[in-house]
Amino acid sequence: MTEYSLRAARLDELPKMVAIDDEASVLYAQAGLELALEEDHPFVVAESLRWANAIEQGLAQVAVNRQDIPIGFATFGFVDGEPYLDQLAVLPSHMRCGIGTALLDHAISWSAGRPLWLTTYAHLPWNGPYYARHGFVSIKESECGPELCAVLQEQRLALPDPDERIAMVYRLPSVAT
Ligand SMILES: CC(C)(COP(=O)(O)OP(=O)(O)OC[C@H]1O[C@@H](n2cnc3c(N)ncnc32)[C@H](O)[C@@H]1OP(=O)(O)O)[C@@H](O)C(=O)NCCC(=O)NCCS
Repeated sequence: MTEYSLRAARLDELPKMVAIDDEASVLYAQAGLELALEEDHPFVVAESLRWANAIEQGLAQVAVNRQDIPIGFATFGFVDGEPYLDQLAVLPSHMRCGIGTALLDHAISWSAGRPLWLTTYAHLPWNGPYYARHGFVSIKESECGPELCAVLQEQRLALPDPDERIAMVYRLPSVAT
């Protein structure tokens, strides 16, 4: 069993986070989706910039091994004024050990009862169904805010299987009074 802990990411760890994300993309390749874009592609450049901003704002967490080396990460931000999980990735060698769930739980805690949004693929088991098992529900685009719609639009222009890109949200279960 992998021993790990979560802590805030440091700016000098951005290249490591990019490398984790690249390695984690093997799952998509195995499912026949080619996500590899050139490193100077505007989508990739914008993503790195967002992650750097997230680190600077304390909105990036890394899962680290006993040697304090990142093996997974999550970055957060805001869309339409509400919390947004921008990315979640774990090294293939450490997948299916609960690290993704720990990072997801952290994101839910960080959102502090507000709706937590994300975008993902509907049809891949480690995306839509994975988030659904953690309480996220998919939301029709007509019910998403303008910034989230713009995020989906940007992804659909750059990523394969654009029709499978969906928005999901986690809302705290309401407590009956
Ligand atoms: C999504 C991701 C972060 C989950 O990380 P993780 O540490 O493996 O997650 P957990 O150990 O908490 O949960 C594992 C669950 O994810 C799903 N999963 C993970 N890898 C999978 C695979 N290769 N095939 C099918 N399901 C998979 C399963 O539901 C699995 O549960 P199980 O092991 O009981 O079957 C990781 O799979 C990843 O980095 N994927 C590539 C990047 C990605 O898709 N990020 C999300 C973008 S929206």
